[in-house]
Amino acid sequence: MKPFSMMLSLLAVGIMSSTAMAESTSLNRISLPNVSPANSDLVNRGAYIARAADCMACHGEDYTGDSPIATPMGDIYSTNITPSKRYGIGDYTKDDLKNVLRKGRAPDGMLYPAMPYPSFSGMTDDDIDALFAYLQTVPAVDEPAKYETQLPFPFNFRILMKGWNAINIPSSEKREGLTKAQQRGEYLVNNLEHCGTCHTPRNSTMGVDKKSYLSGAPLGNWHAPNITPDKSSGIGSWSEQDIVTYLRSGELDQRAYAGGPMGEAVAHSTRYLKDEDLGAIASYLKAVPAIETDDKITAVDVSRLPKPINESITHDLIAQKDSLARAKASVAGGSNAPEALYLAACGSCHGINGYGQPDARYAPIIGLSSLRRDKPDALVNVIVHGIDGATNTSPKMPGFAEDLNAEQIAGIANYVRVNFGGLKDSKVSAADVDRIMTTKPDQPFLIKYAAILAWLGIIVVVLLLGLLVRWLFRRKSQAR
Ligand code: HEC
Ligand code: HEC
Ligand code: HEC
Repeated sequence: MKPFSMMLSLLAVGIMSSTAMAESTSLNRISLPNVSPANSDLVNRGAYIARAADCMACHGEDYTGDSPIATPMGDIYSTNITPSKRYGIGDYTKDDLKNVLRKGRAPDGMLYPAMPYPSFSGMTDDDIDALFAYLQTVPAVDEPAKYETQLPFPFNFRILMKGWNAINIPSSEKREGLTKAQQRGEYLVNNLEHCGTCHTPRNSTMGVDKKSYLSGAPLGNWHAPNITPDKSSGIGSWSEQDIVTYLRSGELDQRAYAGGPMGEAVAHSTRYLKDEDLGAIASYLKAVPAIETDDKITAVDVSRLPKPINESITHDLIAQKDSLARAKASVAGGSNAPEALYLAACGSCHGINGYGQPDARYAPIIGLSSLRRDKPDALVNVIVHGIDGATNTSPKMPGFAEDLNAEQIAGIANYVRVNFGGLKDSKVSAADVDRIMTTKPDQPFLIKYAAILAWLGIIVVVLLLGLLVRWLFRRKSQAR
């Protein structure tokens, strides 16, 4: 699975977003599943902080943990943070929680930064107090963890994280000249929502590379795009309202979709934020430095996109099948023509023209940003690996690595990029697909060679000790 983040899952974006949208004006009126009128204001504020800091994406909606976070060093499992005294954090004092969030220091040892404490380190005292009060009210779950984190040498020495922390905390800088709303947005983006853990590339120690702040980063089989306001490769063409709509609903009609890890962030967190907080994030994202990368994006040309089919077959599965069969039969060039491949492999879910089969809420893939990028990697990865997990009822998207060869995948990629992405041309080749399928995410130098470096370090220390002993011995014999 999953890179520095998490379980990839589907979400019923449409259904959820409309309710969230209607109720979002004040905290009391947002239907946060974890807010209750029976609780104190402090506790309910803490519930909101837990949402905004997305604790549930990793620790689960019931906070029992046991989810793997894939890292280049191996899987790191999230832990039980319910108030269970035996298996959770029932013994924590407020200071213990502060140390975890600010320094990655738990009572029984240092944590790995798969827990995003480098971001949380900037959390205010007030927010941590509220979070602490809230976490004590969630139901305790007295069950032992199913999985234990076991990283290879030298990473199994958690004490090493102290050195890492000294270089990599804080993970962001405060900008000058921001409006009040933008300052709030900065706090949300950097310290609560930790957007940069996915959207900012990593440096050689796996810390975030501040120079490339939010300019896009690989994420296992996904790619978190450039979200700086650059026009050619980032989200410079999005209005603030577009950003709000995307974070609230997980989609922008005919332009963008929040799949995989971003779908998770929307489902567990951003869709629950207050309007003014989403507005603050949007306003701040417009104020960060624009960074141009080589993964350019072509603006969507709506005139080139297909129209929805007007047949009213929404609840008639047989009519839907017939319609797909008619479309398949009418394709010229046989079963290996890209259109025929698309209809056979993708059409039953995404529909003949990319709008999604009408009976179920499959993702429409019309105009999506992931189809319009110069680099086809994200799209090819989705076709090859599919999309895991499901928090709603629609089936997950299968991967096609077994059923289709590189040539066929390239054909489908070109077909959807031109026909549904509105590109004039697309030249994804079988060689591109092979490259994308075979390249493993490159490990930063220090991680890749950590074991060797650690052994070398030990050897050097042993040698130095040896020399020291010899020198002492000589001095002693000379003195005699
Ligand atoms: C990106 C995933 C992720 C998010 C988001 C996250 N955590 Fe964690 N958390 C982890 C992982 C993984 C560990 C275990 C790390 C380790 O083993 O070193 C952990 C450990 C912890 C611990 C230490 C528990 C113990 O065993 O002593 C606490 C407390 C904690 N998290 C609280 C929180 C809170 C509160 C939030 C939200 C503000 C949060 N976490 C958000 C992944 C996450
Ligand atoms: C767990 C990793 C993760 C986190 C956390 C995360 N994102 Fe994303 N984001 C992604 C991925 C992956 C995509 C691509 C989704 C797709 O194409 O389906 C994405 C897509 C986006 C897009 C759409 C860009 C485009 O060109 O289509 C925006 C805007 C965005 N994220 C903003 C944010 C903001 C703001 C935050 C913090 C509130 C955030 N993201 C947090 C992983 C993440
Ligand atoms: C079984 C149904 C199913 C099939 C078959 C299927 N998909 Fe999907 N696809 C989905 C679902 C569901 C999503 C939304 C996933 C999510 O919300 O994370 C999706 C998402 C996508 C996305 C959006 C990725 C992004 O940017 O987030 C693209 C592009 C896509 N599919 C292309 C294809 C192509 C091309 C094929 C055929 C090779 C295909 N799909 C076959 C169900 C399917």
